[in-house]
Amino acid sequence: MRLDSADDCAEPMTHDRVRSLSLSSLPMQDPKEPEPLWLEVDRALEDWLGPDDAALRSATASANRAGMPAIAVAPAQGRMLQVLARAIGARRILEIGTLAGYSAIWLARALPADGRLVTLEIDPERALVARENLARAGLSERSEVVVGPAADSLDALIRAKIAPFDMIFIDADKRNCPVYIRHALAIARTGSLIVVDNAISRGRLIDSSTGDPHVDGLRAMMDFVSHHPRLEAAAVQTVGAKGYDGFLIATVVDERLPTIAG
Ligand SMILES: C[S@@+](CC[C@H](N)C(=O)[O-])C[C@H]1O[C@@H](n2cnc3c(N)ncnc32)[C@H](O)[C@@H]1O
Repeated sequence: MRLDSADDCAEPMTHDRVRSLSLSSLPMQDPKEPEPLWLEVDRALEDWLGPDDAALRSATASANRAGMPAIAVAPAQGRMLQVLARAIGARRILEIGTLAGYSAIWLARALPADGRLVTLEIDPERALVARENLARAGLSERSEVVVGPAADSLDALIRAKIAPFDMIFIDADKRNCPVYIRHALAIARTGSLIVVDNAISRGRLIDSSTGDPHVDGLRAMMDFVSHHPRLEAAAVQTVGAKGYDGFLIATVVDERLPTIAG
């Protein structure tokens, strides 16, 4: 690929391309189920880098007992979130989508003793289980589970002029991702990190023809991020215990670095 011609550099062609892609035109295997190798590697990574401990295992067990779907992050992903939070020295973390508090435990553990994790959950029963799990992990003091539709809770936090969050982890209903990313920006500061789970959704992200609000929400979020002057983002595809998916990771900046496309 030549990069020296004005035409090549002129306009990000990819935007037009992703607007009209359909996965049905691509030869592919069914990416729904994790491959045995991915599972083995995830287990090995857990053994090396930090397996679930009693509190995390108990959070998973309580979610299973309560009949919650197995949609928490994998241990290796929880660890990645924790490392990211530590890397930026996060003192205040916001999570959108609590479930049983599994990722909340990983994140809250990255905080200093006087740090704060606020996590938003629409389902009161899930919130109750999450509070119990955070308490069992010894994290009640630095965490708060807020019940209600996340968009409303975010509005309330913004109205209350809550102090900005250093890290925001978006992991709730994907149809509302555009709403969440806008709100996240409103309660972030320059240097805050925004992480979005399930950003690739088995490759469906690039499919403009699904008619699935989950996919359309992700696509609208990508459009928003790609144009926003205060967001600098990367997205990575992942495989592992959770199958084929990925994360969007964005940092809030004063001004974006120039890209090749200008
Ligand atoms: C993928 S799960 C979160 C998993 C959790 N972050 C973890 O890894 O342990 C998504 C959660 O978002 C919650 N949720 C869905 N729609 C929501 C909404 N509009 N507002 C707040 N929470 C919502 C669901 O009830 C569910 O518990």
